[in-house]
Amino acid sequence: MSPSAKRSSPKSRRLAPSAPRAPEIATIELPTGHKPHPELGLGLWNLGRWSAENEARSKATAARAYERGFRWFDTAEVYGNGRSERLLGEMLYRTATHGDDAFVTTKVSWEHLRPAQVRASLINSLERLGRPSVDLYLVHAPDPHVPLSETMGALEALWKEGRIGAIGVSNFGLEALEEAARHLTEARITVNQLQYNLFDRDEADPVRDYCRTHAILIEAYTPLARGLLHGRYLDGQRVPAEVQRFTNRLFEPDRLPVILARTRALRDLAGEAGVPLASIALHWLRRQGAAPVVGASRPEQIDTNLSAWTARPADRVLAAADAIARGDRA
Ligand SMILES: NC(=O)c1ccc[n+]([C@@H]2O[C@H](COP(=O)([O-])OP(=O)(O)OC[C@H]3O[C@@H](n4cnc5c(N)ncnc54)[C@H](OP(=O)(O)O)[C@@H]3O)[C@@H](O)[C@H]2O)c1
Repeated sequence: MSPSAKRSSPKSRRLAPSAPRAPEIATIELPTGHKPHPELGLGLWNLGRWSAENEARSKATAARAYERGFRWFDTAEVYGNGRSERLLGEMLYRTATHGDDAFVTTKVSWEHLRPAQVRASLINSLERLGRPSVDLYLVHAPDPHVPLSETMGALEALWKEGRIGAIGVSNFGLEALEEAARHLTEARITVNQLQYNLFDRDEADPVRDYCRTHAILIEAYTPLARGLLHGRYLDGQRVPAEVQRFTNRLFEPDRLPVILARTRALRDLAGEAGVPLASIALHWLRRQGAAPVVGASRPEQIDTNLSAWTARPADRVLAAADAIARGDRA
């Protein structure tokens, strides 16, 4: 199907709001982007990836997010081998607006960075999403074997055709970012999606400086450290191997006791300030100029994440949290 062709068929009924909408999530203008970028998004890494039972739960979670006012949805061709995109497309189609008010991000795999592959990947993603264009298209990660001149040239051509609202990258270090930017002429790199949270940050990271200087928005993935920054694992709960693998050494035995002690101190700080711990985690990122993309596997997590976003910790609380997470304050 061509990207300008139809959406998936409207077999199922439209989503009816069943939970009150949360206050509007503000947006950020992207240079050379077609649509404003919401400040908070939902990642769909786990949509369509596991058992039928889990899939039903993650579908209900994504639907709850839409009902409650989330509009930025982050997916990728590799998530569930395309199933995350397909389920997102079906879900958006069932909304009252057919998803026209959504901000959809998807990503081309690091295995598909040659020009013909980039084009084919995007067309396949659009077909699964049932949309004529995607609001933001990211290179999921660089491939050292494919020159970025090829990839960025292909992306810019698709951007000029209107199939991509804005171009971005993910997991790009300084060298790759500079190189990628050199190969765009009219379009710009608008986003770099990185693992970034209170514990997973490097004080002197040149990538973040580069992004700030060049008005590249950092989308922060794993903003809740997989639930740790909701207080999970503070009572001796075992950390699943899959969580350990994707959190950059956070839960490894040599680091874990320190991280847990700091998280307890953050929880106390949140208690004194009268806000949820996750509120500190998300607003600390916002204060750094980053836009968090949270994950959730059940509808109730959408509600608690929105409550966390709605509560606004004072700057002095965020400054104290910063010191605690860095280890400057016990
Ligand atoms: N570009 C990349 O290479 C890349 C890499 C990783 C992720 N991402 C994107 O970023 C998104 C988010 O990443 P992430 O899942 O690592 O982020 P995260 O927000 O740090 O972790 C999400 C997990 O935290 C737990 N959680 C969420 N809300 C909770 C709540 N209210 N109470 C208790 N626990 C809660 C859930 O764990 P349980 O499900 O176990 O309950 C949830 O799956 C992904 O879906 C994906 O779109 C991108």
